[in-house]
Order: sequence, then structure tokens, then C-alpha cells
Amino acid sequence: MTYIRIFDTTLRDGEQTPGVSLSVDEKIEIARQLDQLGVDAVEAGSPMSSEGEKEAVKEIAKAGLKAEVCALARTVREDIDAAIQCDVDSVHTFISASDIQIKHALGLTRQKVLQATVESVEYIKSHGLTCEFSPMDATRADIGFLKELCKAAEEAGADRINIPDTVGVMTPTAMQKLIGEVKSVVKVPISVHCHDDFGMAVANSVAGVEAGATQVHVTVNGLGERAGNAALEEVVMALHALYKYKTGINTSLLYVTSKLVSRLTGIPVPPNKAIVGENAFSHKSGIHTRGVTVEPSTFEPIRPELVGQHRRLEAGKLAGRQGIKAQLEEAGIYPTQEQLKTIVKRVKELGDKGKVVTDADLMAIARAVMGETVQEEKVVVLKDLAVVTGMNIVPMASVKLIVDGKEYISAETGVGPVDAAIRAIQKTVGSLADVKLREYRLEALTGGSDAVAEVIVKVEDKDGNIVSARGVNEDIVRASVEAMIEGINRCLIKKKTVRE
Ligand code: KIV
Ligand code: ZN
Repeated sequence: MTYIRIFDTTLRDGEQTPGVSLSVDEKIEIARQLDQLGVDAVEAGSPMSSEGEKEAVKEIAKAGLKAEVCALARTVREDIDAAIQCDVDSVHTFISASDIQIKHALGLTRQKVLQATVESVEYIKSHGLTCEFSPMDATRADIGFLKELCKAAEEAGADRINIPDTVGVMTPTAMQKLIGEVKSVVKVPISVHCHDDFGMAVANSVAGVEAGATQVHVTVNGLGERAGNAALEEVVMALHALYKYKTGINTSLLYVTSKLVSRLTGIPVPPNKAIVGENAFSHKSGIHTRGVTVEPSTFEPIRPELVGQHRRLEAGKLAGRQGIKAQLEEAGIYPTQEQLKTIVKRVKELGDKGKVVTDADLMAIARAVMGETVQEEKVVVLKDLAVVTGMNIVPMASVKLIVDGKEYISAETGVGPVDAAIRAIQKTVGSLADVKLREYRLEALTGGSDAVAEVIVKVEDKDGNIVSARGVNEDIVRASVEAMIEGINRCLIKKKTVRE
């Protein structure tokens, strides 16, 4: 099996995403996560661009990562010196190769580009560092000049040649041909760097690999300049599952890595995004939900756990009886055939009105249909709650809970009373249910300062199961606490059902 190197540029090209600016600490946190994920190289940033960027690259270089730490530099002495001063393992140096950029972006000639390339590569190598060279806009360059430039870089000592599709204009067929051409003149490993202007970045990257490239530049969630770069999670899973190539990536960390990058960059992941989107393993229509509950591979190309995700079944107008039955059974609810028929009918009616039917809605419907016979199991019961908040004190909450028949009291502080109360609950149930609050939504159901608040939460247990739950109360803190406790109970029941 051929090994493909994963060169991650989330912290460099990814940070070129409009609206993204990471602090030094955030960059270090992402670098550590990428290292755990198993990328081969982390492009930490462009040290010449600012003092903060230089400090971040320096800190990442001394963080003791297993991955190669790389810095970007133009083929300019000051840029390369800034990179060298960061003590990185490698320098990625680049200069335009297309005539349009040579003339209009650099105001140079092909001859000057060749000279700057050779001098820069030799300079990097004279400092004992690994050197990767990129002829920028390679995919729009004159092929004869591109080959001459790549060959000159190799002769000057470049360890790898990276072919950037800077404005994302390639097609898979054209990429295969281009890599073949470059391969015919250079012996060092070839890499590809694809942008997503036409939504082709992943396909073009994989095509480059098929033609002999042994390294791919990627970013988490496909972040990057303009429409972004090839998404790490998509390239890796396509290479593994569809093409049977090998990489060093621990795929079970893809989802958490995506979440971390999304949180720190502030760029949300679209729900329908492949591999890491919330809908990537969600099933809605009756045929699909029935299929996956009987045999997951009927409608899932890969197991969700492989990428750190989990399956979600969503009730709605397209729902089928089997899927709803499975959803209810996960919550410990076992309706009769007749009751199930009515529940499905009501779910479809709600869906027809354009409503998204959450887990909490489904439970409410089941409760209404089954009346007293619905006994949602409760391992955790709220007995008492008190909060203190104000302008000059740290918000604090104490909760009294019955957990598995035993009474516990605990107190916690937080950024506000809701946060403090949720922390206090987590502290108490921690050993029984190690849960994280994944999503919190607050809505006012009525008007006025005495409005009834509806809190919808998504709670995730340590096996990656996510359940949604709802709390409704005039008091926002109580609504939040009730939703959280309901979520914890659902997680515990789900775990029990799986064990049984
Ligand atoms: O897209 C591009 O050409 C780049 C270069 C710096 C390699 O990001
Ligand atoms: Zn780029």
C-alpha cells in the first residue's frame, strides 16, 4: 500500500480564510490536535507576516510535535531568515510560475524567477533545513517553463516539489496529465496543493496522487483563501476508503479535530459537509432509517465511528415506522404496534407543517400517545437548585440530585448562573455519565419578562452518542437544568440499551 504524506496547512492557508485570525495559543492548540491526528507536516504560518505569527511558529516549532514543522517564505532572503529564526524543520518557499503572475503580481521576468528560486533553495539547504518548493499558479504556467523551474529547484537541492493549483482551475484529468509531466523531469517527491474555486479541490488532489504525487496539502474543514483548500477529512477518507492508499491519520479523531478548528476559527461546518458535517451520517426517510437499523451498510458507505461520528435518525414527514421504533427504543420506550402507528402519524403531521421534529418532540408525542404507560427511565432526578449571581460576585450554583437512588449536593461557579448550574450537574454525575454539552439553544415561547423559556440542548457522552433534550420553564436556569438532566438520562438509557 502506498503511503501518502499529509501536509496540513490549516494554520497557514487555512488562516488566510476571510474572517479568520488565530491567537498564538489557539494556533498551538490546533497544532497539537493536528499532531495527535497524525499529520506528517504542520505548516505553522508565515513568520515574515507579523511578530505574532513569528512567535506562533516559534512556539509550535518547540512544542515537541512528532510532525515536521514547516514555515512559509517567499523566495526572498528576509522571509527565509524569519523562517530559519523560528527553528522549524522545513521551509516551504514559493514564487509565481505563470506569466500572468510573473508580470502583473511580481513585475519580474522568467529569468529572475529562476534565479530567485535557485538562490533561495540553496540558501535554505545551506542552513541544513528540509526545503519544499512551490511554483505558484503552476496550473496556469507554461508547461515548458514550469518543468525548467521545477528541475532547477531540484538541482539546487529542493527535497520536495509542490504543485499548487492556486486559483483552483484544474480538472482531475488535467491534474493527472500535469503531474505526469512534472514527474518526467524531477525525481524528488511531488506534492499537490489544490484550491476549491470550482469545488474540485478534493477530486484534483486525489487525481494528483493517482498520477504519482506522494504528498497532499490539505486544511481541516477545507478552510483557506477564497473558496478554500482541499479538505483534510475528505481527502484522507477518499484515499483510504475509495483508493486504498495509506496515511498516518487516526481517522477516529477527524470529527473532534473539525469541531475544534470550527470553534477556534469561528467558521461553522455546513451540516451537509462530507465526513464531519452533522448530517453526514443522519438518516431521515423511512426507507433509509429502516435500512440502517437492520444493516448499516445499506445506506452508509463507511461506519460513522471510523471518523469519530455517530449515526443520527431524524423523525419527520419522511419517517418510517422502523426508524421511529428504533429511536424510541433507544430512549427506553416500547410502544405497541397501534401506538407506534399513531406516533408515526403525528410525527408526519408535524413534519408536514414544516417543523423539524427533535428527539424531545418525539418523546413528547410518544408521551401524549402512550399516556401514563410511558415511563421514561430517570437515573438522575433534580431535587433542588439554588443560584447566586450579580455584578460583583462570581455566579455560583448548587444542585441537589438523586443519582441512582442516592442524594448528592454540589456547587460550582461559572461565567453565568446557567453555566454554573450545568457545571455543578456535570460534577455530580461525572463518574456515572461523562457528558459534554454540545449545543445549547434558548427560545422565548411567550412574550414579556415572564416569558416561558424553552431550552434545547444536545448532550454527547464519551462514546460519541448525541441526544437532544428539552426543558421548559419561566426560569431560564431551571429550563436549562431540566434540559441538561433529561439529556443525561437519555444518554444513560441509550448506553444501557446498547449494553443489553
Ligand atoms: O495556493 C498557493 O499557490 C499557495 C502557495 C503559497 C503554495 O498557497
Ligand atoms: Zn494556497
